[in-house]
Formats: sequence, C-alpha cells, structure tokens
Amino acid sequence: MIICSCTILSSEDIHEAVSTLRTKDPFVVLTPGLIYRTLGKRPKCGDCMPLVVKLIVGYDEEGPSSAASLPHRSPFDDTPTAD
Ligand code: FES
Repeated sequence: MIICSCTILSSEDIHEAVSTLRTKDPFVVLTPGLIYRTLGKRPKCGDCMPLVVKLIVGYDEEGPSSAASLPHRSPFDDTPTAD
C-alpha cells in the first residue's frame, strides 16, 4: 500500500526501514524524518506523516504484521449484515 504519494513509499518500505533501524539499535527513537533519511527520501507535502507515525507505533506495539501495516479498511466494512 502506498503511504506517501509524493515519494512513492509503501508500508513495506517503512516497515523495512523500521526493522533495519531496530536491528541496528533496539532503543533508537524513530521519527518520520529518520525513516525518510534511512530510505534516502525527503518528504514534500507532509500529508503522510500521521500515517507514517501510525505505522511506526504499530510496528513497535504489534510487530511487523500489525494491523497498521494492512491496507486501510473502510469504516463500512464492519457493518453487520442483515441475516
Ligand atoms: S504524501 Fe508524503 S510527503 Fe507528500
């Protein structure tokens, strides 16, 4: 899933960067800027920053397969069906 349309970063790219940084230093303070630098990119508009932070937090809380890494679901996906 593309997270940053300005630099064409995917959630997989971000998870790879987080994993690399955590492997090098388990106590590193992760920031979106550090993630972008690790990937050799620079953010432009910044609209993706909240989602990048969400992915970082999700990775730390739940691991690489966190729900935050999954494509966004519509709030209508959980609508109960009339049986
Ligand atoms: S969407 Fe990521 S910098 Fe614009």
